[in-house]
Amino acid sequence: MSMNFTFENRTRIVFGPGTISRLGALVGPQERVLLLFGGGSIKRNGVHDAVLRGLADRFVVEFGGIEPNPEYATILRATDLARREDITFILGVGGGSVIDAAKFLASVVTIRDGDAWDKLVRGDDVPPPLDNGAILTLPATGSESNPVSVISRLERGLKLPFHREATRPSFAILDPSTMKSLPRRQLENGVVDAVTHVLEQYMTAPVNAPVQHGFSETLLEVLFEWGPRLVEEDSDEARENVMWAANQALNGLIGAGVPQDWSTHMIGHALTALHGVDHARSLSVVMPHLMRHRLQAKQAMLARYARRVWKIDEPDDGKAAQAAIARTEAFFRRMNCPVTFSDLPGIAIDPEQVIHHLVDAGQLPLGEAGDIGAEDVRAVLRAAGA
Ligand code: NZQ
Ligand code: ZN
Repeated sequence: MSMNFTFENRTRIVFGPGTISRLGALVGPQERVLLLFGGGSIKRNGVHDAVLRGLADRFVVEFGGIEPNPEYATILRATDLARREDITFILGVGGGSVIDAAKFLASVVTIRDGDAWDKLVRGDDVPPPLDNGAILTLPATGSESNPVSVISRLERGLKLPFHREATRPSFAILDPSTMKSLPRRQLENGVVDAVTHVLEQYMTAPVNAPVQHGFSETLLEVLFEWGPRLVEEDSDEARENVMWAANQALNGLIGAGVPQDWSTHMIGHALTALHGVDHARSLSVVMPHLMRHRLQAKQAMLARYARRVWKIDEPDDGKAAQAAIARTEAFFRRMNCPVTFSDLPGIAIDPEQVIHHLVDAGQLPLGEAGDIGAEDVRAVLRAAGA
C-alpha cells in the first residue's frame, strides 16, 4: 500500500424505494429535529410529506431555502433558528448542497463565540457538533456518508471544502425513487461529478493498491454504462445503480491509502465561486485538459484506465493514455457537460482570478505530489479556452 491509513465510515446506509418510512427508527424519540431543505423540490415530489410521516411524534422545526452551492450567511440564519429552538439533531433532505449545509450547520450551532468559519478553517479546538442525518434526493457528491461540507462565503469570494470527521452523518437514506423528479441536467451533473470523484482518487501515481484500483474501475464502468441509461431511459435499475455508485465514489474507501489529486475540484470550486458554474460542469471543463497537462506523471494509471475500463487495445502507454482522455472527454460531452469554455457562453474566464482564489483558499500547490503550481493552472485554463 502507498500509505498507512485508518478507514472508518460510521454512516448507516438505508437503501431502497420506500425507505424514508424507516426514519422513525433512525432518529431518537427525544430528539428536537431541524429539517433542512433547499428550494422546494421536496415539497413538489412528495419527499417532504414522507419525511414528516416518518418523524411523526418528534419535535420538528423546518428551515427551507438552502441554495445550490450553499452560502455561509444562509447557514448562519439556520443557526439562529436552531439555537432558539434548542435543536439537538439536524436532518438534511436534498442534494449535496443541503446535506453539506446540514453538516456545516451541525458544527456552527455549537460554536458559540467568534467566527465559526474562521475557527473551522484554522482547525481550532471547537465543541463537538450536533448529530445529523441525511435523506438523499440527488446522487452526485457522496456527501451523505462523508465528512466534507463545501460552503461558499461570497462576501469573501470563496468556496471552500471543510473536512470534519465528527460531522459524517449518522445515517443516510438512499431512496432511488426520489430521483424521479430530477431534471435531466441534474442527472447528467450527478453522473459527471461522481466520475470525477473516482478519477481524482485513481488517476495519480501507480501504487500497490489493487483493491482500491479495482473498486474504482468497477465504479467507473458502472457510471459509464448506467449514467447514459439513467438519462435516456426511465428505469429503476438505472436510478439504483447510479445512486449506489455515486455514494461509493466518495465515502472514503477507494481513497484509503492511495495518493489523491483534487486539482480539478479545487479549480472547479474557484470557477463556481467566480462565475456560478454548476459544480459538475466546472469539473468537466477542466479535467481533460488537466489530464493532458499531466500526461507524463499520470501516464501509467491513464494507460491502465484505458485498457481496463475503456478496453482500449493499444500496447503503447502514451497512445493508450491519450485515447483514454479522449474517451473521458467524449463521455462528458455525451452527458451534455462542457469540455471547453466555449461550451459555457457568456462567461469570460480570467486565469489570474482563478489563481487568486486558489491562493486565498490556501490550496496551491495542488496535485498528488504537490507540484501543480500557478503556472500549471494557467496552462490548463488556457488549454480549456480561457
Ligand atoms: O433546492 P432544491 O429545490 O431541492 O433543488 C435542487 C437544486 O436546485 C435540485 N434537486 C435535488 N434533488 C431533487 C432536485 N430537483 C428535483 N428532484 C429532486 N429529487 O437539484 C438542484 C441542485 O442541487 P444540489 O444539491 O446543489 O446539487 P448537488 O447534489 O450536485 O450538490 C452540489 C454541491 O455539493 C458540493 C458542490 O461543491 C456543490 O456545492 N460538493 C460536495 C462534496 C462533498 N460534500 O463531499 C463533494 C463534491 O465534490 C462537491 O464539491
Ligand atoms: Zn464533486
